[in-house]
Amino acid sequence: MNSLIDIKHLSKKDIKLLFLQADKLKENSKKKNNKILRGKTIANLFFENSTRTLVSFELAAKRLGAHVVNVNLTKSSTAKGETLKDTIQTLQAMGVDAFVVRHSQNHIGKEIQQWLNPNIKIINAGDGNNQHPTQALLDTYTILQHKKNIKDLKIAIIGDIKHSRVANSLIDILHILGNQNINLYGPEKLLPESSQKAIISTNMNQALNNADIIVMLRIQKERMIENTLLNLNDYHQNFGLNRKTLAHANHACIVMHPGPINRNIEISSEIADNAPSVILEQVTNGVLIRQAILVTLLQKT
Ligand code: NCD
Repeated sequence: MNSLIDIKHLSKKDIKLLFLQADKLKENSKKKNNKILRGKTIANLFFENSTRTLVSFELAAKRLGAHVVNVNLTKSSTAKGETLKDTIQTLQAMGVDAFVVRHSQNHIGKEIQQWLNPNIKIINAGDGNNQHPTQALLDTYTILQHKKNIKDLKIAIIGDIKHSRVANSLIDILHILGNQNINLYGPEKLLPESSQKAIISTNMNQALNNADIIVMLRIQKERMIENTLLNLNDYHQNFGLNRKTLAHANHACIVMHPGPINRNIEISSEIADNAPSVILEQVTNGVLIRQAILVTLLQKT
């Protein structure tokens, strides 16, 4: 693994090795000699708002002893007119070993890669509505803590699929791991027209019926270009997860959400805050998975 830009570049083996690395880091987290990234410098470049992903990357790097710089982009030179290329190359000249980038432009990671020395690593923390590979890895890692065989699970992903990089990269990773039972549902305008890797359900019950894993997604108002005329008051009734709709799922299901949650829109508070919700486990695993990625990319450089 040289960088982590798109989940599709990972093999089954890469994914397994990352999960083993995460397990190892979890075991070693209490030990004092776990500062394996001492001397490395990681720059977090977040061009979009973020709380959990930014903090998760920062904690992951700091707990392994790396230097971390969170570049304040509202006050940075890009705000003064400098191009992204110049900003990135300036930081490279200061000795940054890895860039963690969140940006509204799809495929920005590949572009950045062309501006950097080949030994500098890039980690995609979300690009437009394209990919969010670290989220897909932490989601799958969390699923595997509850279920044995990814292949045999019925997965339901519900909400704004069309604008969701979380859905895209999750569908990709599940596909790599051999799952062919991914069911998508949401308002018609927020569903893809077709999918080669997933089934587009025609109603909520069909998507949820006997589901083992339910992934609820937020309505991404900030990415909606066309006016979708969605009425948020009706949304919960038609597409929300609550005690009534959850009853269709497998009794041993787990409920996931990448956050941030819009309470009582896509998910009721009752469901979000209690078992079988694993939302906070996802957050905890996020730090571990990001540590595993940083170690895999940087330890031997
Ligand atoms: C997601 C994102 O930013 O893509 N959040 C996250 O990273 N945990 C999903 C979202 O914003 O709804």
